Amino acid sequence: MAKKLWGGRFSKKTDPLVEEFTKSIQYDQKLAEYDVIGSIAHVDILEKCVLLTRKEANKLKKELMSILINIRNGLFKADLKNEDIHTYIQNLLQSKVGDLALKLHMARSRNDQVVFATKLYCKWAVVELINKEIKGLLDSIVGLASKNKNIIMPGFTHLQHAQPVLLVDYLGAYQKMLRRDILRLINISKDIKITLGSGALAGSPIEAVKYNVKVNEYIKQFGIGDVFNIEPTSNSLDSVSDRDFIIEIISALSIVAMHLSRLAEDLIIWSTKEFDFVEIDEAFCTGSSLMPQKKNPDALELIRGYAGRLYGNLVSVLTMMKGLPLTYNRDMQLDKEPLFNSFEIVSSELKVLAGLIKTLKFNEEKIKEHLEDESLYATDLVYYLVDRKIPFKEAHTIVGKLVKYSLDNDILIKNMPESLLKRFSNKIVKKEIVKLFDPLVSVKSKKSIKR
Ligand code: ARG
Repeated sequence: MAKKLWGGRFSKKTDPLVEEFTKSIQYDQKLAEYDVIGSIAHVDILEKCVLLTRKEANKLKKELMSILINIRNGLFKADLKNEDIHTYIQNLLQSKVGDLALKLHMARSRNDQVVFATKLYCKWAVVELINKEIKGLLDSIVGLASKNKNIIMPGFTHLQHAQPVLLVDYLGAYQKMLRRDILRLINISKDIKITLGSGALAGSPIEAVKYNVKVNEYIKQFGIGDVFNIEPTSNSLDSVSDRDFIIEIISALSIVAMHLSRLAEDLIIWSTKEFDFVEIDEAFCTGSSLMPQKKNPDALELIRGYAGRLYGNLVSVLTMMKGLPLTYNRDMQLDKEPLFNSFEIVSSELKVLAGLIKTLKFNEEKIKEHLEDESLYATDLVYYLVDRKIPFKEAHTIVGKLVKYSLDNDILIKNMPESLLKRFSNKIVKKEIVKLFDPLVSVKSKKSIKR
């Protein structure tokens, strides 16, 4: 095991099993970049407070900058013998600048380091996810809608035929969900305040305002804070010990995953022989080892399945936090895997779905066949009677009876003789109502939806 940040008080070596068990470097190395940025800001603060000379500060900053450049260029490899990424970067710095590195830990603790780095990671990951992945999927959906502007399809409630709708409106519903997802993530991210200066729990001898100015400067300089203005936290006990920002982020990601899962489910259903609304491109399907004819929508099924993983991540952090006494407890180390995992899953789902949607083909003829089902126009028939001064409830009952008669006697409403139709209501004029069994007429009669 590499050098620890806390060896002085101990005369015994840590049991190797405990070392392995307590380590987090295998996953928290993802925080390397943000840990270094925090350290650079911290060096400046120490210099301002005359705890480091200008020369010392410059030397430390130069080394930290070169570590940062390596990380950003993919040349950084954490040594997994260290307890966590914060320990490793401290040890790495010491190997380069010698004992001067020991001054860096003045007025800080891993407890505030870890929150600082995780918060920066969240802010960065939110921007990346929105700009690359969510917007990418939105573009695919918009592209699909513009290729299929005129398609009308049966809309469903309870997965039963309800009323005809435009495919663009259907796709528009998913666009709305994704746009709300973006706003939700931005709002959560905006509210994440920054934590340097909390120390282990009780604050540090350095005035908080000094931290804030420097931290903001560096966050902007390193391209993480350009989107959000970062404010300081104001209670160090709260700062080191809450993880509500992680819970909020995973919760917002779970909502994204839930939306994607519903879209996946719709496409799975639509691609069945029974529906046959869409053709999913072969590149996004897999086969069966036994049944040669199969073309299965496995990618979509996994998108549906992974929603469960996201909810699990959320519940795991919520449960981990619920009984912890203030302030920091090591349990909190377990917040990171669910957080990183949630971003990774949602980001892959968005990428896969964007590609799948780009290549999706609608089977217009088949969809048209489904639109021949008269029940889709029953509500329009109710509105027709309401227009002829029959109260809605009464009109609803009349059409209900008409539909039942049609089903029981196996005769379409549009094929019923006028005399029969009049038995249900003398307001019905056959040549008028036959025009209602038309998807375009039905869709056009709805004025409330904004397109
Ligand atoms: N790896 C730890 C974490 O992620 C760092 C904090 C350790 N602090 C402590 N007091 N043991 O939570």
